[in-house]
Amino acid sequence: MSNGSLQALHARASSRARPETSEALSPMEVLDADHRQMVVMLAKLGSLVDAGNDLSAQPMRALALEVHGFFGEHARRHHADEEQHIFPDLLNSSDASVRAHAERLQQDHRWLEQDWLELAPSISCVADGIGGIDEDMLREAIGIFTALYQEHIVLEESIAYPEARRAQAAAEAGRALRRATALAEASTG
Ligand SMILES: [Fe+2]
Ligand SMILES: [Fe+2]
Repeated sequence: MSNGSLQALHARASSRARPETSEALSPMEVLDADHRQMVVMLAKLGSLVDAGNDLSAQPMRALALEVHGFFGEHARRHHADEEQHIFPDLLNSSDASVRAHAERLQQDHRWLEQDWLELAPSISCVADGIGGIDEDMLREAIGIFTALYQEHIVLEESIAYPEARRAQAAAEAGRALRRATALAEASTG
């Protein structure tokens, strides 16, 4: 994780305390929590097109409003955090496969954004109670968006986040060694 410009993510982390201890989450824990929330929101998005649903019913409109807000704002902020704090180290990795995964994840963000921009107006219409939506097309678009999102999250959790944690631990170990060396020099000098 790039050091020095973690303030925004730290600010988001400290605003998201663990309920049981009120201790602030670490930046990586915030990103993990985002993923858990994304999985829940994808399920809610998918439930909009469950067979027999009346999209004009109030519960469906409320659901559409909730997922519209989440994917339009929270999920985009999550992607921006990853692009700023997680991907740069991976793109500079000496391991070519890590660099390739980071490039793929960046490309996923662009596809997800494009898919969302195509999906969002229909979700917005459901939320506003505007009829005339082609439900088959909506179901197909939600299916594509969900499949890409789920694949993306798996790739991040299996490769990008462990790699970011390793880079973070190595940077912290380097800082600790420099501090210890400086202290030892000060005590002998
Ligand atoms: Fe991502
Ligand atoms: Fe992510």
